[in-house]
Amino acid sequence: MSYLPRKNKLSIISFAIYSGILTVIEIIAVWISVQILQISRAIASGEEIPSIQNHYVDKLLQDLQISQKLFVLGLVAFVFFLFRSLFQILLNKKLLQNLGESAAQLSAIGIGNIVKQNIFAGNHNRLGELEYSLTTGIDKAILTIVGSFSILISDILLILVILVYLFFYDITTAGILFLFGVTSFLVVNRFATRKLKSIGRTKAKLDITLSGEFRDTLSIAGEARNTKFFSDIVLNVKNVRVRQGYLYSLQTIFPYISKYVLELGFLFFAGLLTSYKLATGSISDAASAVGLLFLGGSRLTPALLRAQQSSQAIIGALGPAEQALTTIKFSEDLAQKIETRQFKSPPKIQVRNLDFNWSKDNPIFSNLNIDFPAQQLTCIIGKTGIGKTTLLRLLMGDLKPNSGHIVFSFENESTLDSSSLVYVPQEPHLMSGDLARNLFLSENDFQNRINEIKNLLIKLDLNRLLNIVDVNLNHSKSEKNILNQLSKGEKQRLGLARALLQKANFFILDEPTSALDVRTAKVTIQTILELKERATIITVSHDENLFSKSDSIINLNELNKF
Ligand SMILES: Nc1ncnc2c1ncn2[C@@H]1O[C@H](COP(=O)(O)OP(=O)(O)OP(=O)(O)O)[C@@H](O)[C@H]1O
Ligand SMILES: [Mg+2]
Repeated sequence: MSYLPRKNKLSIISFAIYSGILTVIEIIAVWISVQILQISRAIASGEEIPSIQNHYVDKLLQDLQISQKLFVLGLVAFVFFLFRSLFQILLNKKLLQNLGESAAQLSAIGIGNIVKQNIFAGNHNRLGELEYSLTTGIDKAILTIVGSFSILISDILLILVILVYLFFYDITTAGILFLFGVTSFLVVNRFATRKLKSIGRTKAKLDITLSGEFRDTLSIAGEARNTKFFSDIVLNVKNVRVRQGYLYSLQTIFPYISKYVLELGFLFFAGLLTSYKLATGSISDAASAVGLLFLGGSRLTPALLRAQQSSQAIIGALGPAEQALTTIKFSEDLAQKIETRQFKSPPKIQVRNLDFNWSKDNPIFSNLNIDFPAQQLTCIIGKTGIGKTTLLRLLMGDLKPNSGHIVFSFENESTLDSSSLVYVPQEPHLMSGDLARNLFLSENDFQNRINEIKNLLIKLDLNRLLNIVDVNLNHSKSEKNILNQLSKGEKQRLGLARALLQKANFFILDEPTSALDVRTAKVTIQTILELKERATIITVSHDENLFSKSDSIINLNELNKF
């Protein structure tokens, strides 16, 4: 807790003071209620009306008739109870806000330390766990555990105060209520906490998986534009969310079961006790009825408040829900589109009078005209920052030109569909999970195309990965870590391997050999050249080995006016 800022330390002290005030209000309100009960009981049983157990209050009210006295006492008790509820709502809100602030600060400090230690360069799964514990985990621990704990203490205080007074008032009633309360609390708690703990653990694991899925989806969005694999990830996200929703409902329902068991039990015992006392005549009907009403009322008020809070929470959640539903609808449409994409013939691409600038002070292209012939390898060269990657992104449709056109034409007159396009960025992203996933293949495709995959890995000099092909087939976890240890050059070729496994006819490769030595670059280039049988290839490269093998070279230094 040394991370807690001074402001929050102070607010914890003020919380203790608030709690003290709250307890005093509770004691006064319950004391007044007991006075009312004692007077009512005396009236009902025809006994002598007792004086109020406080000299000053008794004196203050002595001139009033008995009904007026009861009315004033009732009104004051009501105001105290009301004040207590309002005070507690404000206090809890303030406390939770402060705790939220602490959680945010702890997360920020933790993330800062981790970035400093450079742990982010490591294992994807570990990263997911870290991310979870620093964000959601800390929030949950602080807001839920500490927040609920403070509310629990305040509730226990209230129960204690009521029970102590009840013991003075009627030892049998208090005794039975106390015994019932303690046993049912322990039984329900024992049953529910075990279940809730395991639900919490499973939910945390799902949260970690989900954040990994999101991270992967975002990081491969550029590369996996062309594959059904992307829609598998969307489906995965949906499945995890469905399981999360199920667990969430269990988590919400369980505490309510305990609440209803307790409430029903209390009402049942109160009824039983009242009938028993009525039958034995040891207490008057009026006092029992008032007692029962008091008990019912004290249960009803919090229940009403909670119902109101729930409905407000639902209304409050409608705004974000609407936004989320629109987004989900959009991704479903996207997933469907991806699945219906078809294979087309290699395109010829013509760039005509193209202008592009990132901003007014950063113009990149002006009146650019280039032809990329079908089924050829065209290499784009130019100094760093000239706009090579920008041009590739314009060709992919990721960026829109300010003016001018990019025209795709095909021998068979069909139009370009993005399933035919594969993009390999300068630094391909690796995902969490196994080799199949990192090749953008479903489990089935991976099994069916195993020989093709092995041959491609050998061709690209990725023999090291051959071991994990078998590991992957056996679903063994032990050697998958190799994927986290790949060098820059190996990652680059894995990115190429997954691109080559796509049935595409338009390949865009951004510096595919930049991290390779001469020998490895040569074998890789050979594999790229074989693609010409079925595809148009556009590549950016500074590698002489690559542009010397190209059919044509586009030099942006000469074409670009800026
Ligand atoms: N998202 C962006 N927003 C604004 N400016 C950008 C963005 N991406 C690139 N630029 C700018 O556009 C110019 C061209 O960048 P680009 O990445 O296309 O260069 P490049 O030729 O691929 O360089 P390199 O050889 O280093 O990869 C640079 O000045 C860069 O700062
Ligand atoms: Mg670039």
